[in-house]
Amino acid sequence: MPGKLLVFEGVEGCGKSTQLPILQATLLKHRAFQRLQEQHAVSGLLTTREPGGTELGLGLRHLLLGYQGRAAMASRAELLLYAADRAQHVEEVIKPALAEGCWVLCDRFIDSTVAYQGYGRGLDLDLIDQLNRVATGGLVPDLTLWLQLDAEVGLARTQQRGGADRMEQADLSFHQRVQGGFAALAAQHRERIVAIDAAAGVEAVAREIFAVVEGYLQQWYAPNLMT
Ligand code: TMP
Repeated sequence: MPGKLLVFEGVEGCGKSTQLPILQATLLKHRAFQRLQEQHAVSGLLTTREPGGTELGLGLRHLLLGYQGRAAMASRAELLLYAADRAQHVEEVIKPALAEGCWVLCDRFIDSTVAYQGYGRGLDLDLIDQLNRVATGGLVPDLTLWLQLDAEVGLARTQQRGGADRMEQADLSFHQRVQGGFAALAAQHRERIVAIDAAAGVEAVAREIFAVVEGYLQQWYAPNLMT
């Protein structure tokens, strides 16, 4: 049985990178998930991220987030670098893992490109959809957890951490457009995008995420879990 692709999305500071390992640990301790592994219905659990889920991707991440050249990075160049990272990531990591029955928990995926390069930078949304299809070969997440948070609140959280990267340095209106992009995507893809209230505390957000994932798990594996 092929695995499942679960993606975390959201604006800067929404808490994805905190919540992803919490979900991983909770799933590994969860009786139903353990049973699925014993039955070989699920082969394992892998966590990864974009950009930077491969060796090539780490180089691209460094460029994308750390570039400080004299000329600003052109939006189309930025778009193509994110797409290159994704193409390598899907080919090298995600597809093989799904093929062997693994659950893949991924920090950002196709919706980030629509939100950031489409709504944020203003690039053509059809072009981005085409490019996403080229990069993924048509692979779409089984479930996308959108950690919904005001851009202003998220940016304030990242400022507390210090050392803002190239994307975080963009102005508030850019990040507000990104947030609007995620909202538009969630309205468009209700079949796979679930909004989570990320303004709550870490434990409350983790509980909400797990309740959603557990619901999907029961639905996807109902025949396995009934035996
Ligand atoms: P993060 O992984 O720490 O969230 O940083 C990744 C940054 O890259 C974040 O600012 C969002 C941005 N990004 C895009 O602009 N487009 C994309 O397609 C992806 C995957 C990320």
